[in-house]
Amino acid sequence: MEIILASNNRDKLREIREILEPAGIQVLSQSEAGCHFEAEENGATFVENARIKALAAMRATGRPCVADDSGLELDALDGGPGIYSSRYCGDAGYPETCKKLIGIADRDGRRGARFRCAVVCCFPNGDEIVCEGVIEGTVGRACEGEHGFGYDPIFIPEGFTRSMACLTDEEKNAVSHRGRAFRSFARKLADYLTENGTKERDLC
Ligand code: IMP
Repeated sequence: MEIILASNNRDKLREIREILEPAGIQVLSQSEAGCHFEAEENGATFVENARIKALAAMRATGRPCVADDSGLELDALDGGPGIYSSRYCGDAGYPETCKKLIGIADRDGRRGARFRCAVVCCFPNGDEIVCEGVIEGTVGRACEGEHGFGYDPIFIPEGFTRSMACLTDEEKNAVSHRGRAFRSFARKLADYLTENGTKERDLC
């Protein structure tokens, strides 16, 4: 089946395609589906923000749409920047913001952190699928690695000695918050389609 991802972020699209396509799910970006807008993410949780994006794209296209919302939570910031991860970086750029977060963890002493990802899929018939994925880790003492994006250079996943930015896409997908959330989504979608039929018209 074909599903529309309510995002035009190329990094995300690449990661999500790698996860869903082996499960037989073709992923179109929002703009490939003819939908050219960005919904305002004014929810109070990752799930609420993902739902806002998926619902807006579903209403615009009339087709099943999936969206994710994710971010980094630091113990030293009592869970921040969390849903504000992207805005927290602002115009400063990730290299600067990563250094700022290292400083915060250094001063606080608590280095625990996690990436969290919520996935919400909205169907035109009003149904929805909600999933979450989390990866625990620590804030590194310096930025390292060239892969990935955003806060990857400062996040050392549990069980690893190097940052997420040192992992290949494949290695990252195998353990990441988004990988976990979207694999859970692929399983739930397969169950949903078994119960409701695989034709798009059955879902509208
Ligand atoms: P989004 O709203 O889900 O697109 O992501 C919010 C922000 O969280 C991103 O702009 C990044 O700052 C951060 N983020 C989410 N996932 C990752 C990741 O896998 N690596 C690094 N940063 C991430």
